[in-house]
Amino acid sequence: AVTPIDLTQRLAGKVAVVTGGASGIGLATARRFAAEGATVVIGDFNPETGLAAAAEIGGLFVQVDVSDEDQVNALFDTTNEVYGSVDIAFNNAGISPPDDDSIETTELPAWQKVQDVNLKSVYLCCRAALRYMVPQQRGSIINTASFVAVLGSATSQISYTASKGGVLAMSRELGVQFARQGIRVNALCPGPVNTPLLQDLFAKDEERAQRRLVHVPVGRFGEPEEMAAAVAFLASDDASFITGSTFMVDGGIGA
Ligand code: NAI
Repeated sequence: AVTPIDLTQRLAGKVAVVTGGASGIGLATARRFAAEGATVVIGDFNPETGLAAAAEIGGLFVQVDVSDEDQVNALFDTTNEVYGSVDIAFNNAGISPPDDDSIETTELPAWQKVQDVNLKSVYLCCRAALRYMVPQQRGSIINTASFVAVLGSATSQISYTASKGGVLAMSRELGVQFARQGIRVNALCPGPVNTPLLQDLFAKDEERAQRRLVHVPVGRFGEPEEMAAAVAFLASDDASFITGSTFMVDGGIGA
């Protein structure tokens, strides 16, 4: 007899950590993971939205600044203590510099802040996740980079683009390094997605929003749920031969 496959429960029995899980892409993915049967731990800076999200999906909230080594370790240690495993890590929390991010005007503290929250964080989260995944010889890590890591950004985002390029290269490196140990590591490269991050950026500059939209062949910005569908696929065994990939989910965007 053929065992039926329940495609709606691809993540049943898995324990997932989602950073930046209180908003936007992270929140939509936390919901999707839970709907597909995973137990989800939301790690986020913001306790109000984080607690609400965890309550909604029946998971745990851990307040964390992803750029802080001790706090990141505590997030993964707590997950393992409470749920007995770390199977999936969606390292997604990130910031976009609010103002001008061109190389002529960006000062080092602003540059450093973006590297800490967007890049150092992914290093710390991967390291903490691997401490649990390597002994169990199993795991899926998805790191959120961006289309700008591949294409660049004509709107002068030097700190941001550099940080995301680092995330992309690190994901490739870890993907090939840990492939023989049953651990897959992939980079999600979203195009422009309709989230508070994008809305804040474009609220100040409607013309910039329109300029960007011109370059999206699909003719609209993406929705967080469209990222979540891709991340759930990468997290699941359906993606068992996919590692080290640059996974573009971008409406076909051109520079
Ligand atoms: P968002 O602003 O809606 O959500 C980000 C979440 O991360 C928030 O809940 C925030 O509290 C949390 N966060 C921020 N700093 C943190 C820190 N230091 N420690 C812990 N949590 C922190 O943003 P969105 O759009 O969902 O972005 C998610 C990821 O996707 C980011 O890495 C972003 O760079 C990336 N991305 C977003 C795109 C877009 O167009 N929205 C395009 C390409 C990449």
